[in-house]
Amino acid sequence: MIYLDNGATTFPKPEAVYQAVDHFARTSGANAGRGAYKTAREATAMMGRVKNMLLSLIDAREQAEVAFTPSVTIALNMVINGVGLSRGDVVYVSPYEHNAVLRPLHLLQKRVGIKVRELPLADDLSIDLGAVEGSFKENPPKLVCITAISNVTGYVLPAREIFLLAKEHGAFTLLDGAQAVGLLKIRFARTMADVITFAGHKTLYSPFGIAGMYIKNGVDLQEFIVGGNGIKSENPEMPQYMPAKLESASMDSVAIAGLEASLEWLKTVEPWQQEAALTEYLLEKLPLIPDITIYKAPKGASQAGVISFNIKGFRANEVAAILDYKYDIAVRAGHHCAGLIHKHLNNKEYDGTVRISIGMFNTRKDIDALISSLKTVDRRVLKNIDNEILRGNC
Ligand code: ALA
Repeated sequence: MIYLDNGATTFPKPEAVYQAVDHFARTSGANAGRGAYKTAREATAMMGRVKNMLLSLIDAREQAEVAFTPSVTIALNMVINGVGLSRGDVVYVSPYEHNAVLRPLHLLQKRVGIKVRELPLADDLSIDLGAVEGSFKENPPKLVCITAISNVTGYVLPAREIFLLAKEHGAFTLLDGAQAVGLLKIRFARTMADVITFAGHKTLYSPFGIAGMYIKNGVDLQEFIVGGNGIKSENPEMPQYMPAKLESASMDSVAIAGLEASLEWLKTVEPWQQEAALTEYLLEKLPLIPDITIYKAPKGASQAGVISFNIKGFRANEVAAILDYKYDIAVRAGHHCAGLIHKHLNNKEYDGTVRISIGMFNTRKDIDALISSLKTVDRRVLKNIDNEILRGNC
């Protein structure tokens, strides 16, 4: 298989990650923060080490703390529900946001009566900062949510610039780093974010099951999910200090062992440079495909290794199904859980986009194989493919 769906989850993982997971699962498997025997103590110590490594990764040791969660969707729900929004509060989202942000906000819109507004885009689909400034003046924000990198077009959004404007109104700033932490060079303080969320299984190359958030020192969030965390168990309330206030439930210590190994590995590689070179190569080759429409970052903005496209005469899902069936190439098609941006991409006739997302283990050979397959993509193959797969749309 040629795997080009690293936006969904990076695959494969570095060899050291598989080894660390296997070793920890066989020799310890202990629950961090619960128990005073040797392996439990070591699991707790490992959790602390990994948090420090995460802080170092984005230069946040003096500025922030890390809270772990089992997935980045949970982290985003916790932040959005922890800010303390009430009726009439205005929340801005970029049109590039993921459903992990849009759906919790939609619920609060229905249940609490908050107002959710999209940040304005320019014609080239970049964020129109001038218009953003105007919108913020007219309707001041309480919360601004930005994804660091679009999981549809690879656009690196101008989060710092937006957050600087948001801070003029005292808004809470949330940066969704699911597609970015580990890949993009981030310095926590420069982002102007109050919270940055991350997903271990994506650009951090760890297994599923571990994610979380960086929380700026001094920022408080209300609890959203509560339960046991091994601290003052006789108290019905969560401890009231951060980040313990946010961390309940057993964390996946096996996944954390994998994350420790992947963070060590990340110190030895240059993900951004490597992916940028391959993305450039892909962007040279893609226009050679007849009848292709390419959706990428606006000119002048940084481009991550996520590119979408469509081919005239095919639904996005049909192209992905042919690539899988005939060429054993794995890409994602559809709306990529990021519903808003597609109306701006004007891709209704295609039912979303076909997405290529590059990872550290892809090579030029993978791109060459993709391009030669796309050159010969043929509708007749569709009759061999299960209707259920062809209808599939996510
Ligand atoms: N959010 C993931 C993606 O972009 C699953 O595919």
